[in-house]
Amino acid sequence: MTERDEWWRRAVLYQVYPRSFADSNGDGVGDLPGLTGRLDYLAELGVDAIWLSPFYASPMVDFGYDITDHRTVDPVFGTLADFDALLAAAHARGLRVLVDFVPNHTSDQHPWFLDSRSSRDSPRRDWYVWADPAPHGGPPNNWLSTFPATGAAWTLDAATGQYYLHSYTAAQPDLNWHHLEVRVAMTSVLRFWLDRGVDGFRIDAVHRLIKDPALSDNPPSVAALRTALSPGAQLLRHIDQPGVHEVLRELHAVVAGYGPDRLLLGEVGVADPTRWAAYYGRGDELALPLNFAFWSQPWSAAGFRQAVATTERVLPPGAWPVYALGNHDLSRLASRYNHDGRGAARARLAAMLLLTLRGTALLYYGDEIGMTDVAVPPEQTVDPDGRDPVRTPMQWDSGPAAGFGPGQSWLPVPPAARTVNVVTEDHDPGSLLTLYRRLLSLRRDEPALSVGSYAPLPPSGDVLVYRREHQGRRILVALNFGDQPAALDVPDAAGGEILLSTDPHRAAGEQDEPVTLAATEGVLISATIEAGSAP
Ligand code: GLC
Repeated sequence: MTERDEWWRRAVLYQVYPRSFADSNGDGVGDLPGLTGRLDYLAELGVDAIWLSPFYASPMVDFGYDITDHRTVDPVFGTLADFDALLAAAHARGLRVLVDFVPNHTSDQHPWFLDSRSSRDSPRRDWYVWADPAPHGGPPNNWLSTFPATGAAWTLDAATGQYYLHSYTAAQPDLNWHHLEVRVAMTSVLRFWLDRGVDGFRIDAVHRLIKDPALSDNPPSVAALRTALSPGAQLLRHIDQPGVHEVLRELHAVVAGYGPDRLLLGEVGVADPTRWAAYYGRGDELALPLNFAFWSQPWSAAGFRQAVATTERVLPPGAWPVYALGNHDLSRLASRYNHDGRGAARARLAAMLLLTLRGTALLYYGDEIGMTDVAVPPEQTVDPDGRDPVRTPMQWDSGPAAGFGPGQSWLPVPPAARTVNVVTEDHDPGSLLTLYRRLLSLRRDEPALSVGSYAPLPPSGDVLVYRREHQGRRILVALNFGDQPAALDVPDAAGGEILLSTDPHRAAGEQDEPVTLAATEGVLISATIEAGSAP
């Protein structure tokens, strides 16, 4: 199949967690007008699109992933008019906007669920998953919620004597996607936002949409698993069921009906590579199934090399990879690899990796300035799954609340914000922000780095080396994951021009000597391909 050139193949996406990005009205919570006021920053950074975590009406038990009205902006974030203004302002700057679509569950306060639980005879009873207690009492089967603190995936509704299913907290009952009316209601939500002009969706928890209709127990060998990210997960009966692909084709058809430029990416928390790749379908499911391969990767060249190789191997024809190193559920990049205090240097190398691989790149807000996990004291802890440390306010400047807003912020700002912030880093040629900007601008100028072919070189120590090539332009990427200097013993490294190093002290330009990479240094070296040389 010939490679297509949809915008998102070259794109870098940027995830905004709206509660934590910018607070315009001083209530301590970020909002849509706040984000609109910061779009120039994102345009200058050089990203192509933003994905917004949910901003819909919600009691905020799971901070917006528990929705009571899919077509309303929660007042804490603003109004629908604020959303329209945001969209227009983003488009005026050439930024596309993706919104979160949460189909697996609603809030238990959603009118659909209130109706469903009101009686066994409610016309909406089967919009959710209800089941009788087990023969000797207790939950209908052994399925577990994703969140350890929640325990079982079932809660008894005393009034009607049945249990309802919830893959997350008990305040997030799962919708029943076997039910036609649910599909109609939820696809009309997609249309609502497409009609307003959004450029696509990130679909939440796609892999959980369909469950075994017989509600049979998970086999004992995997019954303790809460996600599909461990070996053996393919035996689970409530995650990654075959019927999900039919649903995705339906969602794809709705979105594709608005034109080929609308993007569907989705959270596919499935570790098995082949099963993960099945979410591309035949180009008729997700354009970009988010890839969890990097998120649990130990810090080593071999580990990342292998993760990329596996991704490339299982990709269906014509499909395009996507890589991310952070999100609102995961320890921050600069903290995850900081066990020996070298997290900051590794965050620089990881930036170069992410932005030079063959694939769409997804950044998490604040990772571009090196934000770290923030210790949140117990009295300020609010998330049901302990994720507050990775959701703290964006650090804009060294002032009070790091410039997030005029008041106190909903989560603490760390002392480190005095130096780790946009304004300070903006003026510093050696900052992480400056490195991100250079990488993003190079990636924009060099099709080899975005859409070029990917060819890994044989492993050498703890150095990951690959070539990106497009129409006669070749760029060598060399990333030293090790803590010791490493000589770069690659023929086309000699005599090439160093385009960029993660080390701000290394001068760009021509070089003749064999390159020796410093500890945790990455470089991009351009090489012109001689006529007749091997590809
Ligand atoms: C996804 C979201 C997570 C949320 C969960 C339930 O995993 O990323 O934040 O808690 O779905 O919607």
